[in-house]
Amino acid sequence: MNSTKVTVPDIRQAKKEGRKLVMMTAYDYPFGLMADEAEVDIVLVGDSLGMVVMGLEGTVAVTMEDMIHHIRAVVRGCKNPLVVGDMPFMSYNTSIRDAIMNAGRLMKEGGCDVVKLEGGVDFAPTVAAIVKAGIPVQGHIGLTPQTASALGGFKMQGKDVDGAVKIIDDARALETAGAFSIILEAVPAPLARLVTEAVNIPVIGIGAGSDVDGQVLVTHDMIGLFDKFIPKFVKQYTKIRPIILEALAAYKKEVQEETFPAAEHSFKMESETLEQLKKRIS
Ligand code: KIV
Repeated sequence: MNSTKVTVPDIRQAKKEGRKLVMMTAYDYPFGLMADEAEVDIVLVGDSLGMVVMGLEGTVAVTMEDMIHHIRAVVRGCKNPLVVGDMPFMSYNTSIRDAIMNAGRLMKEGGCDVVKLEGGVDFAPTVAAIVKAGIPVQGHIGLTPQTASALGGFKMQGKDVDGAVKIIDDARALETAGAFSIILEAVPAPLARLVTEAVNIPVIGIGAGSDVDGQVLVTHDMIGLFDKFIPKFVKQYTKIRPIILEALAAYKKEVQEETFPAAEHSFKMESETLEQLKKRIS
């Protein structure tokens, strides 16, 4: 098992070496432990939390407190992968001061290693200021779920030439601002390749084809724990929900039929102690 902590320079170096980066999301301690055991490079405590854990329709309502609470839990289990804390909507959009303060809170109170925020050219000054404050930043461009309503929904981006040029400009602006890597979501695979070639920092794709520097998926989608909505770009490596439902049905049946708990699940009492107890309470 890899016993060394993954660092920002390691992530940058991976692109130079042509080594593909593996990134997954986690929202709690058990998944933090499993990410660690699986030896992935990067764990994102994403604001997808809102959708796959909190039952919200989108990510907009996720708060700083929600993020800090879940980052803390993940960090307790996840020792070696680089842990990214997602900046929730309106935690960095109002002013550069707010952005630095909130990025600092995710690190100081949550314990993550770096932060992620959505936006390209428009947020380059914000990224530069957070980086200058000593906090590494991962950018997120293409489909940006926090502003999905402005983009016309959860749709592929960069379809036409203007849209594609904007995404390449966004990537370049993030690199110039000092971002150490970029998440590129839901864009045509040939565009993702051009974006990846346009910058020297790793581009990690989600719905961006294979010609990128690494991949990220929302874990609850890829293991079939959340199946209310499955984006086209998700591969389900297992379907865990029916397995859990089967276990719950078996538990319910055994409780109702009084076959659980059995003797091996129960604590014993010395017969002498029991007799004395019965006398005492009679
Ligand atoms: O919040 C999240 O999980 C994300 C991924 C979709 C990259 O931003």
